[in-house]
Amino acid sequence: MAEIVIRRPKVEDGDDIAAIYAFDEVVAFTTQLPHRDVQFWRDFYRTRDPEGVELVAEIDGRVVGHLGMILNRAPRRKHVGSFGISVHLDFHGKGVGRALMTEMINLSDNWLNLVRLELSVASENSRAIALYRSFGFEVEGELKMDLFRNGRYGNTTQMARLRLPAGS
Ligand SMILES: CC(C)(COP(=O)(O)OP(=O)(O)OC[C@H]1O[C@@H](n2cnc3c(N)ncnc32)[C@H](O)[C@@H]1OP(=O)(O)O)[C@@H](O)C(=O)NCCC(=O)NCCS
Repeated sequence: MAEIVIRRPKVEDGDDIAAIYAFDEVVAFTTQLPHRDVQFWRDFYRTRDPEGVELVAEIDGRVVGHLGMILNRAPRRKHVGSFGISVHLDFHGKGVGRALMTEMINLSDNWLNLVRLELSVASENSRAIALYRSFGFEVEGELKMDLFRNGRYGNTTQMARLRLPAGS
């Protein structure tokens, strides 16, 4: 099994990141649209949130996974973060998502001091839900007809992982 390197994105990763989102099977489980311009993806990790944390997963010199953390600016929600994650279709099931999540949790717990990590996931995305559960995320509820994809409305599941500070 090839080594998975987790690092920050570089400008030259733009085409590899675009390639991850070139598959409808990947895009359908995000809030993005198919057929985005390559330049959109080249800029994506830089324009989303300059204060945010972006990670990529590299195998044999190629970026095959991308995770972006979104940090709250509202003063009373600074302890809350969320994230989006996508892995190239050819590399699903090879531990790339787990490697990205492991580093994101490390940053969240040990550097950003986040207490609550939250996300929305398509309710039929059993692979992602299993991955999140294995990192301590729990289901908090379900939003009906929340996300339109492939010609129909789908439900999304709200999940969160709490890391209670000492003394709380
Ligand atoms: C969800 C996604 C990020 C997971 O990444 P991945 O690299 O395929 O996942 P991994 O190989 O690291 O697997 C991690 C866990 O997922 C679960 N998993 C993997 N394959 C699975 C499958 N076919 N069915 C159900 N669960 C599965 C397992 O719990 C696995 O844990 P393990 O390491 O103990 O086996 C990836 O499939 C993806 O990009 N999907 C499309 C976009 C998407 O859904 N993004 C998330 C939106 S919220």
